[in-house]
Amino acid sequence: MKITFVESRATPSGALVLPFAEAPKDAKDSKWPDALAKLDRDSGGALAKAAQAGRFRGRKGQTLTILAPANLDVSRVVLVGLGNSAKINARTAEECGGAVAAALLRSGETEATVLLDVLPRLPLAPEKLAAHVALGARLRSWTFDKYRTKQKDEEKPSLVTLKIRVGGIDKVRAAYAPLEAVAEGVEWTRTVVSEPANVIYPETLAKAAQQVLTPLGVKVEILGIPEMKKLNMGALLGVAQGSEREPRLVVMRWRGPGAKDQQPVAFLGKGVTFDTGGISIKPSKGMEDMKWDMAGAGAVIGLMRAIALRKARADVIGIVGLVENMPSGTAQRPGDVVKTASGQTVEVLNTDAEGRLVLADALWYCQERFKPRFMVDLATLTGAIIVSLGHEYAGLFASDDRLAQRLTAAGDAVGERLWRMPLDDAYDKQINSGIADVQNIGANGSAGSITAAHFLKRFTNDVPWAHLDIAGTAWTQKDRPLAGKGATAFGVRLMDRMIADHYEVRGGKGKR
Ligand code: BES
Ligand code: MN
Ligand code: ZN
Repeated sequence: MKITFVESRATPSGALVLPFAEAPKDAKDSKWPDALAKLDRDSGGALAKAAQAGRFRGRKGQTLTILAPANLDVSRVVLVGLGNSAKINARTAEECGGAVAAALLRSGETEATVLLDVLPRLPLAPEKLAAHVALGARLRSWTFDKYRTKQKDEEKPSLVTLKIRVGGIDKVRAAYAPLEAVAEGVEWTRTVVSEPANVIYPETLAKAAQQVLTPLGVKVEILGIPEMKKLNMGALLGVAQGSEREPRLVVMRWRGPGAKDQQPVAFLGKGVTFDTGGISIKPSKGMEDMKWDMAGAGAVIGLMRAIALRKARADVIGIVGLVENMPSGTAQRPGDVVKTASGQTVEVLNTDAEGRLVLADALWYCQERFKPRFMVDLATLTGAIIVSLGHEYAGLFASDDRLAQRLTAAGDAVGERLWRMPLDDAYDKQINSGIADVQNIGANGSAGSITAAHFLKRFTNDVPWAHLDIAGTAWTQKDRPLAGKGATAFGVRLMDRMIADHYEVRGGKGKR
């Protein structure tokens, strides 16, 4: 689906989309804005009647479709709600765009025009409203249909063009440009997370990252087994040793305009392209979900794409550890002791606690080589975080309060919400091993997400660090305002926003 902006004079084409702010609760027969009142009169009152009959009140994300109104020359009118007009912000605008896309995507309409210019003055500037409606529509309309060869026409997405009619197109385009870059990153991430593990495995994911990032000016290095052996990455290599697929460590760096002579910031991702559990094998039910155990890595690569596309004035490192966790004759065993790049030894009590082993070597390598201002890792790390937070918030663990605050604020701004979880020596103790420096699961099985975070922390060398456990948010089983069922790309927008808000050198575009 393509999104275009058209000036206010333009005659709308295709389905008509009419946005409404919510009518006050006490309004009996709330009056329609002038521009819409005329349209309603032209329809012989059909629109207002339908709104009344369908209980349409303009609630946030509410839609009502009116098919073939008799006196209007359109195939359908979609009413869409923005919610309470005093509370309208970028998020509301995105949800409105998302609702429009959901209502029209497979409706049979090929074209639609959203009349944003009929709205009264709102607390959100018109160009921002339009840009965020566009972003929401684009994110919600993404689908992954490449393996469906027998889709019937009526099941295929039909909407080709969504026009947004609004005054002041130039300002709107300028506001949309950085959002479009982020949307590109999100879509890239969603695609790669959706791909099955016979298509996306360490080698192919590393190549895909290189192919998509190098032309944009991102430096991409791919480390293979010999390089990782030299770096003593025994933890990452131990996870990989049961698989026919060789592991990769991908190191990416974007140095934007003006971003020289300062320490970079670093984002790391868990990239387990399939997690069987290894010898501590998982039950077969639901194991297919473990194709998306690389969602953290996918998000970090998508972030690099987004910031390079919008030429962020920042110095950003992305590192992803890519492995496949398989049981085999060469797989590591419960009880094996491995030596990490940090020199610390790990007793691998459960081969299914593999993500932390991969990240341990990646984190250590990152701080040692780049001396970053901070490290943030994203990982589908524990089932326990789903027990704690379900699918609404991701878990946030941080050794640094300011970092935690900035991440939380960025997440709130883009609707990727984080909930901070505790770190404490009492939990840390639970991963002391009887035979090595540390063991890869907690001693008593409780607080699994926290002991996992403490495991990672031991490999950060006290560099300010945060860990986002995205096991509950990387994939959605139900449609959401900005994402249909499937991969969400959780984290891409959050990281991009945090960079834009705090880590870009002043004086450039791309900041908002
Ligand atoms: N990739 C899983 C965590 C996961 C579970 C992600 C469900 C998404 C949905 C991780 O590698 C894992 O297996 N964790 C174990 C840790 C345990 C062995 C201490 C878990 O959560 O059960
Ligand atoms: Mn696992
Ligand atoms: Zn895993």
